[in-house]
Amino acid sequence: MTLSEKIGQLNLLAAGEGLATGAAGPTRLAERLDRGELGAVFGTKSLASARAMQERALAGSRLSIPLFFAEDVIHGHRTVFPLPIALACSWDMALIEATASHAACEAAAEGLHQVYAPMIDVARDPRWGRIAESPGEDPLLAARYAVATVRGLQGAGIAEPGQVAACLKHFVAYGATLSGRDYDNASLAWEDLIEIHLAPFVAGLDVGAASVMASFNAVNRLPMHANAPLIDGWLRGKQGFDGLVVSDYTGVQELSAHGIGAPHTVVARALHAGIDMDMVGEDYLRELPRLAVEGLDAQDCDMRFTPAEIEGLIDRACSRVLDFKARLGLLDDPYRGLDGAISAPPRAEGRALARRAAAAACVLLKNDRLLPLKAPCDVALVGPFAEDRANMLGTWSVAGDARDVVTLREALEIREGVRLQCARGCNVVDEAWLTDRLNVHGKTVETDPRDPGDMIAEAVAAARTAGLAIVAVGEAREHGGESSSRLAPDLPAPQRRLIDALSETGVPLVIVVFASRPLALGAVADAASALLYAWHGGIAGPEGVADILFGDAAPSGRLAASLPAHPGEVPLHHSEDPTGRPFRGRFEKFRTGWLDLSDDAAAARYPFGFGLTYSRLRYDAPVLSSTRARGDDGKIELRVTVTNEGDVDALETVQLYLSDPVARVTRPARRLIDFQQIAVASRQAATARFTVTLAQLRYPLAPSLEDAQMVWDPGSFVLHVGPNSRDTTAAEIVWER
Ligand code: BGC
Repeated sequence: MTLSEKIGQLNLLAAGEGLATGAAGPTRLAERLDRGELGAVFGTKSLASARAMQERALAGSRLSIPLFFAEDVIHGHRTVFPLPIALACSWDMALIEATASHAACEAAAEGLHQVYAPMIDVARDPRWGRIAESPGEDPLLAARYAVATVRGLQGAGIAEPGQVAACLKHFVAYGATLSGRDYDNASLAWEDLIEIHLAPFVAGLDVGAASVMASFNAVNRLPMHANAPLIDGWLRGKQGFDGLVVSDYTGVQELSAHGIGAPHTVVARALHAGIDMDMVGEDYLRELPRLAVEGLDAQDCDMRFTPAEIEGLIDRACSRVLDFKARLGLLDDPYRGLDGAISAPPRAEGRALARRAAAAACVLLKNDRLLPLKAPCDVALVGPFAEDRANMLGTWSVAGDARDVVTLREALEIREGVRLQCARGCNVVDEAWLTDRLNVHGKTVETDPRDPGDMIAEAVAAARTAGLAIVAVGEAREHGGESSSRLAPDLPAPQRRLIDALSETGVPLVIVVFASRPLALGAVADAASALLYAWHGGIAGPEGVADILFGDAAPSGRLAASLPAHPGEVPLHHSEDPTGRPFRGRFEKFRTGWLDLSDDAAAARYPFGFGLTYSRLRYDAPVLSSTRARGDDGKIELRVTVTNEGDVDALETVQLYLSDPVARVTRPARRLIDFQQIAVASRQAATARFTVTLAQLRYPLAPSLEDAQMVWDPGSFVLHVGPNSRDTTAAEIVWER
């Protein structure tokens, strides 16, 4: 291959306007294809357009090297499933795998070879809009989510019909951005990087994820697109990853804005770090020909490469791109996936799966014996999301169609014996400028011009007449996702006012929250007789909610991220380190963590792993096979029996946490080490069994990334077992060397 043919392979463009030519002449994409200056395209919207591009690429490439096609398939493709954070709340890995597998098949049927998923950024700050795309706050849950998603997407292999290549993103610690501001940097202990943020990547790589995308942020001052120690050192060197690494959107170019070099310098740095393909910015295409001739001597950032070194790096990246194409089967058949031979799975199958997933993702936070509802009944359905379609799809649903959504009103109306009266009650937000921002990518937020007082009065009257109100509140689709961080993650003010007014009626309120992030619910939780956290549930989100409300599906979801009591107490997670203060007694002014957060208000904090069922589940004390174990091969079995004392079958997620009360360094007060879902039929018991091994006791010590080691300290450990991260029973064990 010539130098320019090799550089062309490293260029990755968005399909944009595709190949269409108008009076203005050929598109940039068409020009690149004709000159053999393109390795792959993302964001094609149909099989026909991908095929047309492939034909043009093959004609433009002297060696007939095919393109591959990629897309953001984050929580479903045409069939939009619940948001990733919502899917994670199901804790049901078989279900998550099934959604990924369905999405893979729909994507493959449209000629896509790679999808930019799973997003496995552990996220602990609900201000960050991209928490919606993440599997939540816990590294173990995120790791299991990574495994399930990669398996669903890649199946038996990325060249198999109906499968696609997964792309683990964003590498790494994008979820640890300062203050939850999107694109901000992360400064953290190497131990935290390893234990929290790298752990899901290890899991995804272990099951063979074929590609990785770098993140926009810096980690400890070195931007990830130039982070040789993490990409070339850790990912390639330590983990042995030999797949493809792509940049994020203009991520290479943005290195200059990070302050680490001029445009040509950052190209050399990114290529050296191990970014194989340059997405959208075309900086590789622009700068590499000259760098390959002149080399680089950038004293301002202490970077030097000879021309031969640059050529070697180009060869390395190019062979990874070609390898990826070979693994996809494209070098044997350039039209693989583009010949119409793969059929999309039946839409009805997708709908049924989406509905099951939507119900499984709902987390029941409160239920004063009001749910499930029984028909016949009169219900007032109020709130700005009662008749919503577009927002239900949630962020990053690029191929979704809002017309596929059945609204909550429609889902309730078709139930026999449900007599509905509807009233909007309020707008999603009341500021015009904010409404404009929420509508920037298409109008999903309507503003009802009526007087706010009149709208509330209408909802209150409907609630009084019906004697029961379902209140559909939450966030707009654009409240979450990329570039959508919120200062205060709470329910927008007009919706809180609606709930205040409704609660004064004394009519029981079933509050359903459709959101993209964990919101501080505060007084909203108090006002509710029943509270269901439904997230943005995709095309069948509202139907899943209706199934739960009327008992056709039993609630089983558990929070994948803690819900704060107040927006000011974020970031927040369950796995905090113990501290010396405040301790009971002398220095204790407050137990809520905040002087101005009352004990009552703190009750609206819902812990990680929390979620109610329609049953009463009693946990017996955990039984250990032994309280002592020794050395590397030691094992302790823990058994816990759960009895369902209620009348409804339940799916229980039994969670196992560990604490290490004395170690070389401070260890988290508790850390999820395993979980298991067990079906517990009404009036029956079921037993969950866990095996604890030494691997679960290990933790990283890392004076630097390179010197990191996994260690453990013999002595006492405490196992905590229960239905969530707070309400657990402890069992002490001793592990000797
Ligand atoms: C996002 C990625 C996404 C890419 C391509 C970027 O802005 O950070 O997650 O895959 O765009 O759409």
